[in-house]
Amino acid sequence: MADAASSSARVNALHKFPPPFDTSDESFELIAQGAESLLYRTTFSTTGQPAALKVRPEKKWRHPILDKRLTRARILAEARVLVKLSGEGIAAGGSTPGKRAKVKQPKEGEKGVAGLRGFVPAVLALDWERGWMMTEWVYGRTVKQAIHDTQAGRRAVEREQRLQDLKELLRRIGEVVGKLHASGVIHGDLTTSNMMLRPYDATTPDPTSTDSLDGDVVLIDFGLSTQSVSDEDRAVDLYVLERAFGSTHPREEDLFPEVLTAYAENEGSGMNGKVGKLVLRKLEDVRMRGRKKSMVG
Ligand SMILES: Nc1ncnc2c1ncn2[C@@H]1O[C@H](COP(=O)(O)OP(=O)(O)OP(=O)(O)O)[C@@H](O)[C@H]1O
Ligand SMILES: [Mg+2]
Repeated sequence: MADAASSSARVNALHKFPPPFDTSDESFELIAQGAESLLYRTTFSTTGQPAALKVRPEKKWRHPILDKRLTRARILAEARVLVKLSGEGIAAGGSTPGKRAKVKQPKEGEKGVAGLRGFVPAVLALDWERGWMMTEWVYGRTVKQAIHDTQAGRRAVEREQRLQDLKELLRRIGEVVGKLHASGVIHGDLTTSNMMLRPYDATTPDPTSTDSLDGDVVLIDFGLSTQSVSDEDRAVDLYVLERAFGSTHPREEDLFPEVLTAYAENEGSGMNGKVGKLVLRKLEDVRMRGRKKSMVG
């Protein structure tokens, strides 16, 4: 299956694979194709571990210099934040055009800035000149998929269980976003497609075949991230998530306040306490502005 997918991905790809992948023997399974990038599942040849390869092909409609600059900015924004959050350093070497940056492996017991290691994928390698970045593969499915996969049971007790599981999941989302903000990072594109649910039990043979919502919430897709500790920026980040959640999961929309409560109150969130409450107050202003804007059109 991986072989078939990889050969069709290579033949049908809308771009040429950048070196060294153009001559690699690994397989590349196309997982997602966004407006700006393609995401492949492959293997990191140095260690043999499963990896996610994000390729940002050249955009022919953009001026080549501007295109290169934008591609580089996105890759660097994403890599910088992932490296900061997982407490790893990129070794020198990445500044030479076309040269692959080597990623220093974290020392035993070394912690990420706010204990986010494991809640974001580690960067394995990148080449911003050629437009790609490789991170470790996150086992599981997106939170969006996981929520869609849960079925409301027929019996009241099953429905109640699902509700509790959903609330639990939303609280874990609030905590991880709180940790992220406490580390001084704004995600910039918080949606349930940019979060993975990694089962606690890594031996779950096929995480897509279960409607369990157990697992760690892992944040991905930091291409639009920025570094800031402003309440306003944090509130806008939450607002983006609130809007995205409402449109992707209209039936679960009423449960969204669980995210905010956990963000501002749970021990696991770095934002619990005064600052968290200030951010929620700002969120009310941001919502108000959003409403006015949509009324004006
Ligand atoms: N490290 C990973 N492990 C497993 N799956 C991943 C990983 N990174 C991405 N994916 C999968 O690929 C999809 C697309 O990835 P991502 O969100 O990073 O790209 P994108 O939305 O196309 O990017 P961008 O908005 O930066 O152009 C995700 O929704 C997820 O299903
Ligand atoms: Mg995405």
